[in-house]
Amino acid sequence: MRLNSPQINIITKACMKASKLLIRDYGEIENLQVSTKGPGDFVSSADKRTEKILIEELQKAYPDYGIITEETGVINKSNIKNRWIIDPIDGTMNFLNGIPQFAISVGYEEENEIKCGVIFNPIMNEMFCAEKGNGAYLNNSRIRVSNKKKIKDALLVTGGPKQASKIKDKIFSEYINVSKQVSNVRKFGSAALDMAYVACGRFDGYWQRELNYWDVAAGIVILKEAGGFIDFFESDDEAPLKKNILASNSNIHSELRELIIKKNIE
Ligand code: IPD
Ligand code: CA
Ligand code: CA
Repeated sequence: MRLNSPQINIITKACMKASKLLIRDYGEIENLQVSTKGPGDFVSSADKRTEKILIEELQKAYPDYGIITEETGVINKSNIKNRWIIDPIDGTMNFLNGIPQFAISVGYEEENEIKCGVIFNPIMNEMFCAEKGNGAYLNNSRIRVSNKKKIKDALLVTGGPKQASKIKDKIFSEYINVSKQVSNVRKFGSAALDMAYVACGRFDGYWQRELNYWDVAAGIVILKEAGGFIDFFESDDEAPLKKNILASNSNIHSELRELIIKKNIE
């Protein structure tokens, strides 16, 4: 592997360690679906335990770094220069339903820029990783975004809206509008893997509203290093951890922007 920063090595090791118990948990989901207690508690404990292992491993190496996580919140608030951004399980709903489309996602941010990141699907044994300036990889192979030239031929992926979303109608009508202009649209249920899949050319583009920073942090560097373009649109300065994202190969990026951003301005 050509990635060599201490941070990427630490993230990779932490993900490998955390994944062992996660794989075991996943194997038990089927039994839990029929238990009277139901799988809800079990899933949140899988989330929390995975996160705990990740935090412990990362802190062993750099105890002073800031951490933003989905389950715990912010750790070492005063360090905003060096931060780990963690989503212990991205794609919880899939995990819960025994669908192997979920991942551990960890990014390292320095001076407000993601420098390296890992998205690891332990069931498929697919580790996507990248480091600024040194390329993006799936396991040991270099990855690149697709070469699709026209938006009408593009296979896109999206997600949402969440149950509690206040803009469900807007998201659904956007989905309809975009679907009419492209080859097809998928919803796979893991923002991190959606981005990783654009990075390796399985999808040509991805857009989604109402995400959190930890959903996409690692994906940002992976996609950029794979030659992809990313826009965060309609951002709210009051809520820096909330993100609307649009990401694709370079050929279709401006057309995709027009479809999503311009349509909403009109
Ligand atoms: C969710 C997934 C999903 C996206 C949701 C996220 P979680 O993360 O990324 O694809 O549509 O907006 O919250 O809850 O599984 O970590
Ligand atoms: Ca999560
Ligand atoms: Ca998530």
